[in-house]
Amino acid sequence: TSTRQFEKLWPGLSKRGLLGEVTTPTQLPDGYVHNLHEVHEVLRAEGPVHETRLPHGLKVWVVTRYDEAKTALTDPRLAKDTAELGRLLEIHAPEGRRALDESLSEHMLNMDPPGHTRLRKLVTKAFTARRVELMRPRVEEISAELIAKLNDGDVVDLLEVFAFPLPITVICELLGIPIDNREEFRDWTNRLLTFGTTEDVQAAGAAMAGFLYQHVSKVQAAEPDDTFFSALVHATESGDRLSTEELVSMAFLLLVAGHETTVNLIGNAVFQLLKNPGQLQILKDKPELIAASAEEFLRLEGPINHATFRYTKEPVELGGVTVPADEIVVVSLASANRDPERYENPDQLDVTRSAQGHVAFGHGIHFCLGAPLARLEFDVAMTQLLARFPNLALAAEPTTLTWRDSTLIHGLHTLPVRLA
Ligand code: HEM
Repeated sequence: TSTRQFEKLWPGLSKRGLLGEVTTPTQLPDGYVHNLHEVHEVLRAEGPVHETRLPHGLKVWVVTRYDEAKTALTDPRLAKDTAELGRLLEIHAPEGRRALDESLSEHMLNMDPPGHTRLRKLVTKAFTARRVELMRPRVEEISAELIAKLNDGDVVDLLEVFAFPLPITVICELLGIPIDNREEFRDWTNRLLTFGTTEDVQAAGAAMAGFLYQHVSKVQAAEPDDTFFSALVHATESGDRLSTEELVSMAFLLLVAGHETTVNLIGNAVFQLLKNPGQLQILKDKPELIAASAEEFLRLEGPINHATFRYTKEPVELGGVTVPADEIVVVSLASANRDPERYENPDQLDVTRSAQGHVAFGHGIHFCLGAPLARLEFDVAMTQLLARFPNLALAAEPTTLTWRDSTLIHGLHTLPVRLA
């Protein structure tokens, strides 16, 4: 079985120092995120699907190859229903661990059709490429304001001063949430995504739920206006209307999905470029290539790895491996996107390649709703940053930068740069 496969790989991975602090042969230890791509290379070569435990102890089947990843993301026998997934998370999680506060879980990413179809339809229109393009002037303004605060010669954490505040400001404006709360949001989502202790995750979830309940109630009580969230709160799609719980969960999903990801798309891209001066020069010479280059950065160093939970409603065969019923399956988007069967020289940054078909935004019915917004933010942020600071440089040895201990989000702790 694939458990044995992983156990067989483990001594080799461990000897090469790729696993960091070693725990048990069936569990991927925390340190593996620092050697994410090297570990994936070994797993991919060995097989398309591996039964293992994630660093926080959850037992899952990880899909590592591109073809199987796409199959898994579209197979309706791999489902998402919250209640079922919650039950299985409790079975497969280590003793004492629990899933997230239920009041935040009633959102489309946790649902199968027809519930998924209904919720997604209510917001789809607001996120089409055309509607999102109308947001460009405002996104440019927010980005320009942030850049105006930065000075030549300063050494700053680019995540802190730019990559983080841009998307959180955009998504808070969209939801009508005052941005003075943004540090709190950062803290809450950070705790939710890095799997701290159960108490910590639940406390962060409860704080966020409490805040969002208040916000939704305020918008419900106010006169409808033409902002996105007001329209959603007061929307009636052929008599359909979102309940307060559904609105809270929707706001939660948009907030979390809408900022953590984009922060790290920008951060990871800048990190890659500063390590690859030739590639950086191409984008400086031809800024018109920046928009399209987003796909290559998403492929090579996308901000999401395992945030793709599904469960098997029945036994499902994937690439010759049979995953029994009632198991949790996660697709490693980071691994699929570097599958050498799909992309030539997959570990190499090539801003001029066509990286189309990558799965960084997922695939199938849950394909990222916010993809047009993320692409717009990337384009604006990178264009302005490279124009204002053409001699931007890393202010630390690349090898000293560390990755956050999360298998969901793939992003750096800090990105120290010298502005010039
Ligand atoms: C779903 C990635 C930005 C909202 C997803 C999924 C992925 C993803 C992989 C599918 C997960 C699965 O199938 O299990 C990303 C990346 C982003 C990004 C890499 C930035 C670079 C955004 C933004 C928003 C957003 C800016 C909102 C404004 C959503 C929503 C879903 C989703 C609502 C659920 C869609 C559904 O279930 O039908 N995203 N996302 N995302 N994303 Fe994004």
